[in-house]
Amino acid sequence: METLGEKFQRETKYSRRERPPASRILSHPEDYKAYPETPRFPLPPPGEEPGPGVWQVMGARRSVRDFAPQAISVEDLSRLAWSVGGVRERRWGFLFRVVPSAGALYPVETYVMVNRVEGLKRGVYHLHVPTFSLELIREGDHSPSLTQAALGQDMVASCSVVFLWTAVIDRCRIKYGERAFRYIYLDAGHMGQNLYLTAAALGLGCCTIGAFFDDEVNQVLGVDGLEETILYLGVVGVPA
Ligand SMILES: Cc1cc2nc3c(=O)[nH]c(=O)nc-3n(C[C@H](O)[C@H](O)[C@H](O)COP(=O)(O)O)c2cc1C
Repeated sequence: METLGEKFQRETKYSRRERPPASRILSHPEDYKAYPETPRFPLPPPGEEPGPGVWQVMGARRSVRDFAPQAISVEDLSRLAWSVGGVRERRWGFLFRVVPSAGALYPVETYVMVNRVEGLKRGVYHLHVPTFSLELIREGDHSPSLTQAALGQDMVASCSVVFLWTAVIDRCRIKYGERAFRYIYLDAGHMGQNLYLTAAALGLGCCTIGAFFDDEVNQVLGVDGLEETILYLGVVGVPA
């Protein structure tokens, strides 16, 4: 019997016998989310000071799960955030980012749970892409509930920051139909790798997390799990 995963692969494949559906996209959808009522903290734009080369960084990257109880600087948080949600250029009404995205639709939203960052309150923030700022959506220590949601993986509480990536499904589905689900996960993978490489370049440790109770993470973020749902997490901190 065909499994759910096999059915998904079959039903979302393009084949020469069945032409891909013509794009139904008429106009460019809103390509970022905003919380206009919340306090916004602009992140310092990342500098261009020299760092290690790409080959060195790729060779150094590994998953780090043990962290020292140290804060990271807001400058380092800014570099990490830039690597997953920075706008590279504005052209034809699109905000092209440092990560690739199918159709430049950017269905993946970034949230940051701050455990220890110099000069920032603990809490859950959303990355507002066009202004490169953090919107404080839930103040306080939410690491116990997020750790529980991540199957008790305690790096969620011991790290300095947790990146959380959700998908706004229709932002991509409006163009690609159900095939959008493939692209959404691929987009998130690129963001995860950028986070890993940036952490390695800064001498920080990173581990991405795919094992979590979806509904519980959605609850921490206040998203409904249907229109917008959690995809992937990434923790970053000072290696122990
Ligand atoms: C999609 C994905 C999900 C992952 N989920 C977890 C996780 O839930 N917990 C964990 O400790 N590591 C997780 N990892 C990290 C992998 O275990 C790790 O990348 C792998 O063991 C290879 O080690 P390396 O990253 O040090 O090269 C995940 C990695 C990926 C790419």
